[in-house]
Amino acid sequence: MKRILFVASECVPFLKTGGLADVVGSLPKYFPKEYFDVRVVMPKYSGIREEFKNQMQFITNFYMDLNWRQQYVGVFKLEHNGITFYFIDNEEHFSGDKPYAGMPWDLEKFAFFSKASLSILPVIGFRPDIIHCHDWQTGLVPVYLHERFQGSEFYRGIKSVMTIHNLKFQGVWDIKTIKSITGLSDYYFTPDKLEFKKDANYLKGGLVYADAITTVSRTYAEEIKTPFYGEGLDGLMRARTNDLRGIVNGIDYDEYNPETDEFIYKHYNAKTFRKEKSKNKTGLQQDLGLDVDPKTMMIGIVSRLTDQKGFDLIAYMMEEMCQDGIQLVVLGTGDPKYENMFRHYAWKYDKKVSANIYYSEAMSHKIYAAADAFLMPSLFEPCGLSQLMSLRYGTVPIVRETGGLKDTVQPYNEYEGTGTGFSFANYNAHEMLGTIRYAERIYYDRKREWNKIVDRGMAQDYSWASSAKQYEELYNWLA
Ligand code: ADP
Ligand code: GLC
Repeated sequence: MKRILFVASECVPFLKTGGLADVVGSLPKYFPKEYFDVRVVMPKYSGIREEFKNQMQFITNFYMDLNWRQQYVGVFKLEHNGITFYFIDNEEHFSGDKPYAGMPWDLEKFAFFSKASLSILPVIGFRPDIIHCHDWQTGLVPVYLHERFQGSEFYRGIKSVMTIHNLKFQGVWDIKTIKSITGLSDYYFTPDKLEFKKDANYLKGGLVYADAITTVSRTYAEEIKTPFYGEGLDGLMRARTNDLRGIVNGIDYDEYNPETDEFIYKHYNAKTFRKEKSKNKTGLQQDLGLDVDPKTMMIGIVSRLTDQKGFDLIAYMMEEMCQDGIQLVVLGTGDPKYENMFRHYAWKYDKKVSANIYYSEAMSHKIYAAADAFLMPSLFEPCGLSQLMSLRYGTVPIVRETGGLKDTVQPYNEYEGTGTGFSFANYNAHEMLGTIRYAERIYYDRKREWNKIVDRGMAQDYSWASSAKQYEELYNWLA
């Protein structure tokens, strides 16, 4: 039996801002229980729903030294869907309704969380063989494991894995501040360790000290070895190329299932979508005040509204797109310039464009089910889950060929009758528009062909089945 501990800053169903939470909350369920005991530790944010907080069981509390002061660590536990979750409690760090407060506030919060995640282990009686860390917030875990904990019998030999969900975010600040927050000695602040362009970098620490590194698609694993995608760490990625692998994400096929989804208007499956799927579209059109017409092509967007996701291309082409016979339904929050851009077009073309500038699980499911196509022209995309959810709901992805989008969406080829979506190569607004218009032509003029694209998309399997096996191999190889 191998014991694995996931350490992450967010996790469904407790708290989510993006795909990281989906991955951390769903992947642990897919390991065979006879061979793997996978548990998860995350912060006990005050934003976690009461319903879950009430179910948590208090385990213990103690004080932990974080450089110059003693800090309170409470430990709670909850079994959910057969998985054990631990929650680290500290009101100073984890109150507030959002998990992230931005820099520099998050630096101490996640130094605390990382160190606490290691400190609780002897107390909770769980000695993992492998600690699996996710993103920069947990970058200090392998560092602390090396620094403080290798001295003791309990921690000796514990291996660590660092998974990069997004290399853009690294946790970088000046060395003096980070030294004082983390209590790490001068030894750690050299260019071969945490130092990064004269500053200190949490994620880099994790990437240097982890025994293995993964990221969430094969293409992204290659891309981050180049300066364009490497965010200043491409040299390190090349240096650790033998320890770096890309394992594509899956999604939770129980949560995202058009046959059983409680949020959508009408259930359907791969056999019935031709008749039933458009009832989701008309239902949503009605609710959002759009023209109600099952024949109008609806393009959906569910996303953080940030530069990463290609919204400058969309902003550039928005007026033109609104001249076409399509509807655009957006759900997302983020950069005010994109929020306002969509609000503007929803005001100007109120029967065609719907801007839903908020976060809603229920609305996201409605859009995945209702839309005919899903637009995701990302500048970079480590994996992307939205296109996988779209495929699952028979909604045809229109994507840029980068990272996980390239690995999971096969471009339509009208001559060979292959492909599950539409894609373009260059980060260029005209290329994007050309691809959207090509999709429109197939949708309107060759509906049978379109439906075959949907058939092929719905036949794909992006559940965790095959990717969880690749993590198993990695764990077995390490421990
Ligand atoms: P990222 O993690 O970079 O944001 P992913 O495609 O991996 O991108 O995952 C995004 C996840 O967040 C998906 O589950 C998507 O449905 C969800 N999501 C994004 N924005 C919203 C929103 N405003 N409301 C509900 N869900 C959202
Ligand atoms: C990050 C990436 C996204 C990926 C998700 C889960 O948020 O931006 O591409 O799907 O992590 O791994």
